[in-house]
Amino acid sequence: MNSLVKVWDLPTRLFHWALVLALSASVISVLVFEHMVWHARFGYLIASLLSFRLVWGFVGGYWSRFVNFKLSFKDSLAYLRQPAHWVRAGHNPLGSWSVIVMLLLIFLQLIAGLGSDDDAGFSGPLTPHISSTWVSLATRYHTDVGKWLLLFWVFLHLAAVAHHALIKKKPLVKAMLSGYRVMAHANPSSADAGKHRWLAVLLFSICSAITYVCLKLLDTQI
Ligand code: HEM
Ligand code: HEM
Repeated sequence: MNSLVKVWDLPTRLFHWALVLALSASVISVLVFEHMVWHARFGYLIASLLSFRLVWGFVGGYWSRFVNFKLSFKDSLAYLRQPAHWVRAGHNPLGSWSVIVMLLLIFLQLIAGLGSDDDAGFSGPLTPHISSTWVSLATRYHTDVGKWLLLFWVFLHLAAVAHHALIKKKPLVKAMLSGYRVMAHANPSSADAGKHRWLAVLLFSICSAITYVCLKLLDTQI
């Protein structure tokens, strides 16, 4: 019998769409408008979002918790052999790995940005604290290797989402909008009541405050 499962709680969905907007805004502000101050500001917002997602991975709804991501080699192999037999509502093993790598690539891009210099009057807040060798390494990673890796991973993500939607006819995008999936087998639902949402507001506020204090300690103009 089909059942309606709450898979993505509201905080996870807001995190996802805010990340999409902040990442796009950060890239557009540097590549289209060449506005480094806004490029960095959107980067700082991404820092708050990432640290929130890290904490939410321990205390968030059932399917947002990292312990419920299926990352073992055995599960990945089983999924690759028979994807149709996968009956869990959350990320499948390939999706779980892809999310971890995506978050890691965004984190690396962010850290490298903090140590980058554009040779035209703008430099990240870490640059006065590291050697010029590290600044040029960070800038090289940020503007070359890291940029292309992240772009490739986002492209892969969109291709995977399109494949599930158009070929496999699984409404994953609808689930990332409404939070719900219809499942043929019993699955736990993610808690998403008022108190969980208020906890997320509190945690995001704390993550933003910590990001702000760290930037101020580094004498950053925000
Ligand atoms: C800059 C672009 C994007 C980034 C960086 C991104 C990042 C992510 C991340 C980190 C997750 C994991 C969510 C979590 O567990 O916290 C995720 C999941 C997801 N994203 Fe995106 N996303 C992007 C664009 C999009 C777009 C444009 C769509 C839809 C049109 C989309 C649809 C989805 C869906 C459906 C999932 C859930 C996949 C599943 O059920 O396993 N994403 N994305
Ligand atoms: C995840 C967040 C970020 C993303 C996705 C990102 C992405 C990018 C991209 C695509 C470029 C253009 C590279 C090119 O010229 O082709 C760039 C340049 C740059 N970014 Fe970021 N960035 C992020 C965060 C930051 C942060 C937080 C800072 C510093 C506060 C920063 C500092 C710089 C600098 C200095 C450049 C110019 C380097 C140059 O022109 O030589 N970025 N970034």
